[in-house]
Amino acid sequence: MIKTVDPKKVSTQEFHSYLLGAVAPRPIAFASTVDKNGVVNLSPFSFFNAFSANPPILIFSPARRVRNNTTKHTLENVLEHKEVVINIVNYAMVEQMSLASTEYDKGVNEFTKAGLTEVPSKMVKPPRVAEAPVAFECKVNDVVALGKEGGAGNLIIAEVVLAHINEEILDESAKIDPFKLDAVGRLGGNWYTRANYDALFEIPKPLATKGIGIDQIPQEIRNSSILTGNNLGRLGNVETLPDKEEIKSFIQTNQHVQEVLSKKDKTEITLSLHKYAKKLLDENQNTALAWKVLMAISYY
Ligand SMILES: Cc1cc2nc3c(=O)[nH]c(=O)nc-3n(C[C@H](O)[C@H](O)[C@H](O)COP(=O)(O)O)c2cc1C
Repeated sequence: MIKTVDPKKVSTQEFHSYLLGAVAPRPIAFASTVDKNGVVNLSPFSFFNAFSANPPILIFSPARRVRNNTTKHTLENVLEHKEVVINIVNYAMVEQMSLASTEYDKGVNEFTKAGLTEVPSKMVKPPRVAEAPVAFECKVNDVVALGKEGGAGNLIIAEVVLAHINEEILDESAKIDPFKLDAVGRLGGNWYTRANYDALFEIPKPLATKGIGIDQIPQEIRNSSILTGNNLGRLGNVETLPDKEEIKSFIQTNQHVQEVLSKKDKTEITLSLHKYAKKLLDENQNTALAWKVLMAISYY
């Protein structure tokens, strides 16, 4: 059963909670701003992402409060002084970031409340967070109000003019190592996620290759009761299927597959081969090998 929801027929609160629950996890912009008198503010926003590399553009959205349609200090500050530092939040500072989301009165500096360290920026007035693994100094190009009612977002379109990256999060080739970054993301309700350990996995990019596509996978493999959509996706990412000679010499060197093929029942053989191929795919092993296992049945 599917629950179908018309946003115009439910309260803003209700639809807000579907949006936050479904569009998840979201990265968190920990935004440092100043008002016209230079008073510093620091608040987190998970309506946030990177949208362009040239020019480098980050966008986040402080919304009008649903309960009373008031605006956030961050938005007011950015309208007064068009600069922001967007700090990236990692697991080590997630509780302090949450504390900084408290709706303190205007003029209260959340750096102080959350016990975080201000570092003067080089190109903009708002300071950056010393503890953040990455901080982007930005000039605000535009602020786009998406509505006038409570819950309306305000897109703060920020162009990065300088980035600070803690070298401790870099790998040997000077790229950001996701394990060292240890980023956190926001989901619905009070839920967060930590992008580390088992939560991280790699998928080879299909950019360089032009995979055959799931539609070109032989039907008996495509309709397997063992292989999942993810397994088929990986299988469809190869450019060519193994030829007869390759399959033959693979069978000759693989005792397990030989034993499977020596069974009498074809369905049993198919199931065993599919299970073996699934294991290879799930353990992120050689996709080419999984293909040879799957196609070994043609030598039954
Ligand atoms: C992880 C996290 C993400 C948040 N994301 C948003 C958001 O995208 N938009 C928003 O308006 N408020 C968001 N909030 C709530 C604001 O941080 C909160 O209203 C804060 O008090 C605003 O501070 P300010 O008035 O000093 O700008 C978020 C809070 C947390 C903890």
